[in-house]
Amino acid sequence: MNSKSEQFMTLGAAKGWSEVGQSHPHESAILHVLGEAVYTDDIPEAQGTLHAALGLSPKAHARILSLNLEPVRAMPGVVAVYTCKDIPGTNDCGPIIHDDPILAEEKVEYVGQPVFIVVADTHDNARRAARKADIQYEELPAILTPQAAREAESYVVPPMRLTRGDAQAAFERSPNVLKGKLHVGGQEQFYLEGQISYAVPKEGNGMHVYCSTQHPTEMQHVVSHALHYPSHAVVVECRRMGGGFGGKESQSALWAACAAVSAAHLKRPVKLRADRDDDMMVTGKRHCFYYEYEIGYDEQGLITAAKVQMVTRAGFSADLSAPVATRAICHFDNTYYLSDVDIRAMAGKTNTQSNTAFRGFGGPQGAIAIEYIVDEIARNLGKDALDVRKLNFYGRNDEEGRNITQYGQKVKDNVIHELVAQLESETDYRARREAIRTFNASSPVLKKGLALTPVKFGIAFNVTHFNQAGALVHIYVDGSVLVNHGGTEMGQGINTKVCQVVAHELGIPLSSVRASATDTSKVANTSATAASTGADLNGKAAQDAAHTLRKRLVEFAAKSFGVAAEEVILANGTVFAGETVMPFADLMQKAYLARVQLWSDGFYATPGLSWDRETMSGNPFGYYAYGASVSEVIVDTLTGEWKLLKADCLYDAGNSLNPAIDVGQVEGAFIQGMGWLTTEELWWNAQGKLMTHAPSTYKIPGVSDCPQDFNVRLFKNRNPFDSIHRSKAVGEPPLLLPFSVFLAIRDAVASVGDYRFNPPLRAPATGEAILDAVDAVRAMA
Ligand code: MTE
Ligand code: MOS
Repeated sequence: MNSKSEQFMTLGAAKGWSEVGQSHPHESAILHVLGEAVYTDDIPEAQGTLHAALGLSPKAHARILSLNLEPVRAMPGVVAVYTCKDIPGTNDCGPIIHDDPILAEEKVEYVGQPVFIVVADTHDNARRAARKADIQYEELPAILTPQAAREAESYVVPPMRLTRGDAQAAFERSPNVLKGKLHVGGQEQFYLEGQISYAVPKEGNGMHVYCSTQHPTEMQHVVSHALHYPSHAVVVECRRMGGGFGGKESQSALWAACAAVSAAHLKRPVKLRADRDDDMMVTGKRHCFYYEYEIGYDEQGLITAAKVQMVTRAGFSADLSAPVATRAICHFDNTYYLSDVDIRAMAGKTNTQSNTAFRGFGGPQGAIAIEYIVDEIARNLGKDALDVRKLNFYGRNDEEGRNITQYGQKVKDNVIHELVAQLESETDYRARREAIRTFNASSPVLKKGLALTPVKFGIAFNVTHFNQAGALVHIYVDGSVLVNHGGTEMGQGINTKVCQVVAHELGIPLSSVRASATDTSKVANTSATAASTGADLNGKAAQDAAHTLRKRLVEFAAKSFGVAAEEVILANGTVFAGETVMPFADLMQKAYLARVQLWSDGFYATPGLSWDRETMSGNPFGYYAYGASVSEVIVDTLTGEWKLLKADCLYDAGNSLNPAIDVGQVEGAFIQGMGWLTTEELWWNAQGKLMTHAPSTYKIPGVSDCPQDFNVRLFKNRNPFDSIHRSKAVGEPPLLLPFSVFLAIRDAVASVGDYRFNPPLRAPATGEAILDAVDAVRAMA
């Protein structure tokens, strides 16, 4: 073929071409807007599809004395009713410890626990029938709060403790000691698409489950255990979720198992879609935490000793409570060097929903405590909290020292000093602090508050072996490319990023690459898309597959056109081989005819990780992501109403793979974290019934809660760790940025007592909580 370079990009342009680091829209953005994106409930139903609903326990803790399901069977449209006795295999959907029955056996352990499945001709008939059961219970005493669980020593896993240095001796040397308590509430994931599974039986005892899940492989295991099928007989597929936020990491299992058990018995497809109220009643949420802390510090505000006990509400089963508590312990330091610490965490077994993963996975709960504490130290010393924060930051480098975390990992990539300095100056922090003091002095009711808070977040699963991923890349003869990887798309843009990586590697435009649904029959033994590692792990695996193909194609082109391999350049869909310039698709044609394999697998395992559960030490994280934010609020001290006036976020996404998507992740996480700390309140009544189980009573932030002045910027940085194109994870860490909103509210409340007292502000800082804190400050003054 002759050179026709005028049709293609020039060689010079080709050399500068890159498909990563560009702001591309989310791969499904247009489909989302047009309503064409297919979620599990949109999949055209196969002939004979039936619909299931779950019968839920009305009791928090009770023995089942008798179970009469005849009234359910008698309802219109009902085809079958199943209890735990109808599960052919194991009645368990617990991800780690097997204490999580799919359907209750002799006992119920929370209000909302599924007791039976009813399958009917329609969704509506199934739901109506589910209410008709006649069940007699003998009530047992229920434990409803973390504090009560601690009192009763009722835990789902043994208490954990991490110590470093000698906290006791350090306390004795400390010039100042403060003690306190804090309560931080839980949070409902509130994914827009609720839990759903659609199970379609296949020939020869096979089962295909379409499931809205972050963890198809785990769903495959749970379904295969429940049905007593080998794993190869179960396929779990997820094209996308309408949000997961951690809530579909383990807790999609119950729905997958119930749909699959019903479908296996009936040999008909069965769909189980949770109504919002049922979803909120049945599934676990972010763990609420109750802290008791004791902190030693010097006259400058340097922390000299730290002791904290954190008790969480695990709910009735272990689920992911142990790893969540571990991450809380590993994030109690946040950006601060703590020389002598004694950290305990207890996962309280309570008669409530089994709490689970939620964006940050215990990290936010660990770090909020130290931020609350630093805020108190500053107020006690009459200093600006920002100065106390800076004083306590991890050292910049080895020379400065102070860079070993409480779990023994060295912080080698610390950019918090520079990042905070940049944000401080860009947001006029000091001048605004002065202006707010002046405003508050002459405003008796409306009070303004300001806070700057930093974030450091460890990236990787604490459990080392989860840090692996696989991918398959297929090049078709027309030059189009299909990627399959083990990660799941929940809106965070993993498919866009992975496709960018593959496009970049193969030298083709992003539009030539398509990602297919996540499917356990394509990439086996995958990890959950979680811990913010999705793009890191699957991006690397896909790059590995694409790299193998690239090498093969370059060799083939070099041989075909008689040039050296170094003279072959693939860029933006054009192949340059010495004098020859041709479209990528033409090379694929040639390669196919020459019998070159045009598809490859890829694999990645994060190097250098270790974790010892017994000693709670090791190198659990590949690197750290950093960030900081400044928030300014105004609070009405008579009504407890407040408004976020301005928020600025600076986030370290390394060499961002896709700045537009990363900025979107920071914005979303910021607002979601703000909801957790301010308006989203979970409230159980004295009988243990969750009363806030719908948007009517549970307030997530709305668009009007977003600040008018909202700026998100990415910090210029390159990941020193060899991550995918030196980018950094972005999914969870920005959820910690709105600590500044919570502490700005606390600052505004503190102004009521002329900043002399620490307002005891609980989270969520609802209007009621804010008024309680105002009253408390007034009482102290
Ligand atoms: N963004 C959207 N839009 N929807 C989601 O459900 N989940 C978050 C975060 N961002 C979520 C999201 C959580 S909990 C995690 S762990 C990460 O995305 C997972 O994605 P990644 O690891 O591929 O970044
Ligand atoms: Mo995210 S909580 O790790 O699914």
